[in-house]
Amino acid sequence: MPFDKSKLNMDLYEPFEELVAIEVLGRPCEVPENQSMLRCFQFLSSETITYGKFCWNNDCGNCECQVILPGETEPATRRMCQTKVAAGVRVVGTSRHVKFRFK
Ligand code: FES
Repeated sequence: MPFDKSKLNMDLYEPFEELVAIEVLGRPCEVPENQSMLRCFQFLSSETITYGKFCWNNDCGNCECQVILPGETEPATRRMCQTKVAAGVRVVGTSRHVKFRFK
């Protein structure tokens, strides 16, 4: 079923229709498809990410997290502003700048 986007600022998001399931620090979450992982983090924890110290364009490194992508078995450090979400991604560690206050 398409996700109801009426409460989102769609200027921030790439076009999407549905949510995909990922895991963030052991917590099952659903986030919009077709976004950067950092935008997905903002979807999950708007205040902490919106007002965090992020350049959003691959300069600062503050968004680096340890993630296991679908098909991989070991975590790798990736920049979340440069990593596209995919169903099944597991975020297993974060930089000190990436903080969550889940809704
Ligand atoms: S937010 Fe600065 S490198 Fe990703």
